[in-house]
Amino acid sequence: MGTQGGDAVGLGAVGSDSGVQDAVGAGIDDVGTSAVGAALKRGAFRAGDTVQLTDPKGRMNTIELRPGSTFHTHRGYFRHEDLIGKPEGWVITNTEGVEYLCLRPLYADYVMSMPRGAQVVYPKDAGQIIQMADIYPGARVLEAGVGSGALTMALLRAVGDHGRLTSIERRSDFATIARANVENFFGGPHPAWEVRVGDFADQAAAAAGDTGVDRVVLDMLAPWENIEAVADVLVPGGVFLAYVATVTQLSRLAEDLRAHGGFTEPNAWESMVRGWHLQGLAVRPDHRMVAHTGFLLTVRRLAPGVKLPERRLRVSKEAAVPGSVEDAPWLQGEFTGEDVGERPVSAKKVRRTMRALNGAGPHGAVQAATGQHSAVLDDAVLDDRVVGDTVRDGEQP
Ligand SMILES: C[S@@+](CC[C@H](N)C(=O)[O-])C[C@H]1O[C@@H](n2cnc3c(N)ncnc32)[C@H](O)[C@@H]1O
Repeated sequence: MGTQGGDAVGLGAVGSDSGVQDAVGAGIDDVGTSAVGAALKRGAFRAGDTVQLTDPKGRMNTIELRPGSTFHTHRGYFRHEDLIGKPEGWVITNTEGVEYLCLRPLYADYVMSMPRGAQVVYPKDAGQIIQMADIYPGARVLEAGVGSGALTMALLRAVGDHGRLTSIERRSDFATIARANVENFFGGPHPAWEVRVGDFADQAAAAAGDTGVDRVVLDMLAPWENIEAVADVLVPGGVFLAYVATVTQLSRLAEDLRAHGGFTEPNAWESMVRGWHLQGLAVRPDHRMVAHTGFLLTVRRLAPGVKLPERRLRVSKEAAVPGSVEDAPWLQGEFTGEDVGERPVSAKKVRRTMRALNGAGPHGAVQAATGQHSAVLDDAVLDDRVVGDTVRDGEQP
C-alpha cells in the first residue's frame, strides 16, 4: 500500500450524501457516495443484506436475506423474499401473526454479535478512541493487536478510503477472524487497510515506511514493551493511545512513558455508560450495566531530541517517598493474561468462530443458512450484554 498524496486527504468524508431519499426502490447507484461500505447501509432491502429482526418481546435475530429462504421459529415463519424491496424500518408479519421490526444492524450491533476470537473494544470505547486520539480522514494510523477487528472497523471509518491503517496482530488465527469480520462489515476489502501478522515491535518500522505515522493505537497486554518502537515511527506531535484493562497495566505504562522521555505527560481516563429504562413514569437507570471495560491513555510525541519542560507538580507524601513508585511490584517483571484476570480463549472457541465465519455470506455477520442466529451470537450476548460482567477475556500472551 502506498503513501497517500496530500490532495487525497479528507476526500472520504467531505460532502458525503445526507441520504435523504425515499428508501423504496433506491438501488446501489442512487446512494450518492462512493465510500466503501456506504452502499450496503442504504436503500431498500436487497438479497444478501444482513437484517436485524426484533420480535414483540424485544428479542433479536440476525438474518441474511436469501431468495428461497424462510425465517422460522416455533411460532410460524416468513419468506425472505417478502422483505426484499421493502424499506428499512419495515414490520413483517409471519404466518402466525407475529410481527418483526426489520432494520440493518448498526456498527454497535454488528460488533456485539460478530464472531470473535479475542475480546473486542466496546463501541463506547471505540468512540472515545476515535475522538481523543484525533483520528481524522486521511490519517496514517498503526494499530495492534487486531484481535477480532472491532476497533479496526471504527478506525477505518475514521481514516476513510484515502487514509491508511496498518493493523499488526501476532496471532495469525485472530488476524484471519478479524479480516473476515472487517470484510463482511464493509462488503469487501477496504482500500485503506493492510494487516500484518507478527509482533508490533518487529513490524512497526516496515509498516510505517519512510513517512512515519500520525497515530498509534495499541490494545494489548503489555503496551510498554513497544514504547521504543512507537517513538521510532510516530511523527512529532503524533498521538499514541493505549487501551488497557487494569490499573496495574495503566501505572506501568505511564511510568515507562515518563522514563522514556520522548512524550508529553500521560493523560488517562475511563468512561462508564449507563443505559436508562424509559417506561411511562418509570424513568430510571437500568439495573444492569457494563461497569468496567478498560482505561485509555494518551500521550503525544515530542520533536526529536526535545525534553519536556519540567513541570512543578504538587506531589503527595506517599508518591514523594523515594523508590516507592519504582519498587511497586507491577512495575517489575512480565505480565501474563492471567495476572490481569483474563480468561484464555480456548482453541475450541477459536475453531467455532472460524466455522461461523465460513458460514457467513458476503454481507452477513453470523447468520447460518437456516435463518437462526448462531451459537457464537448466543455466547456473545450471554457473555457481555446480558450478564454485563467485566469482559476482557480474549488475550493469550
Ligand atoms: C484484546 S485483543 C484486541 C482486540 C481488538 N482491539 C478488537 O477490538 O477486536 C489483543 C490482541 O493483541 C494481540 N497482541 C498482543 N501483544 C501483541 C504484540 N506485541 N504485537 C501484536 N499483537 C499483539 C493479541 O494476540 C490479541 O489478539
